[in-house]
Amino acid sequence: MKLLEGKKGIITGALDEKSIAWKVALKAREHGASFTLSNAPVALRMGTIQELGRLCDAQIISADATSLDDIKNLYNKSIEILGGKLDFVLHSIGMSPNVRKGKVYTDLNYDFYLKTLDISAVSFHKMIQTAYQMDCINEWGSFTALSYIAAQRVFPDYGDMADAKALLESIARSFGYHFGKFKKVRVNTISQSPTITTAGSGVKGFDVFHEFAAKMSPLGNAPAEACADFCIFLFSDLSRFITMQNLYHDGGFSNVGVDPSVLVGN
Ligand SMILES: NC(=O)c1ccc[n+]([C@@H]2O[C@H](COP(=O)([O-])OP(=O)(O)OC[C@H]3O[C@@H](n4cnc5c(N)ncnc54)[C@H](O)[C@@H]3O)[C@@H](O)[C@H]2O)c1
Repeated sequence: MKLLEGKKGIITGALDEKSIAWKVALKAREHGASFTLSNAPVALRMGTIQELGRLCDAQIISADATSLDDIKNLYNKSIEILGGKLDFVLHSIGMSPNVRKGKVYTDLNYDFYLKTLDISAVSFHKMIQTAYQMDCINEWGSFTALSYIAAQRVFPDYGDMADAKALLESIARSFGYHFGKFKKVRVNTISQSPTITTAGSGVKGFDVFHEFAAKMSPLGNAPAEACADFCIFLFSDLSRFITMQNLYHDGGFSNVGVDPSVLVGN
């Protein structure tokens, strides 16, 4: 069954084949969608997105997600290439200069902090607001961004990304209201299990909390391919009354208090 036949969209954040967005693009293609791919100029130079473009028959548009001009250009070009308004947008973007440079939460560089928030959260607002003002999304369209449970619980090494994810989820709620009223467009975040990707592995101690989450989750960690399935569902008409939600896609991790088998080391 093809869930996205006739639908048009934009998929951001595919850097290499480990990226969650890479898997989403492959599945979206499988489900009959046509879309453009986008990433920051530096990622286009360093990553392997051109290969994904060939695999999905998708054109690639360079856009720094913090730049309103780049975002406008991304929408204008996508509409021109795809031949009409859009149905879905994936925001799969995250980066913290503090985490990258080993600046812990008690010793943040505030210029970096603002960059973390701009790249990882405010960019979602910028993408949604630009689309809202351009009125370039079809009714029942869907915006989806990727979050992490550090928005609700403390994961000390996740640093200022935790604040960015809290803001990201809040933007989904707040803009989901306005876009829902305006055009029945939906806005959600998916709170995904730790996943081995370039962004994920950049967090100190990632291997430990990846393994810990796998043990604590009754179903184990949700893999990137399953996250891609969930994104396809959220882009599709099957989820048309889901909006303003942060949806856990984590094998049950978020609702487990204690798992005795983890404590005794089984
Ligand atoms: N990997 C995990 O454990 C995990 C868990 C939960 C949520 N997430 C989230 O999933 C999303 C995708 O990350 P991923 O794990 O696939 O890693 P990834 O490194 O493959 O993707 C992150 C992407 O963000 C892009 N990016 C960074 N700065 C940008 C900018 N200024 N403009 C446009 N794009 C920019 C990068 O080029 C890269 O493609 C992120 O929001 C991340 O926080 C990841």
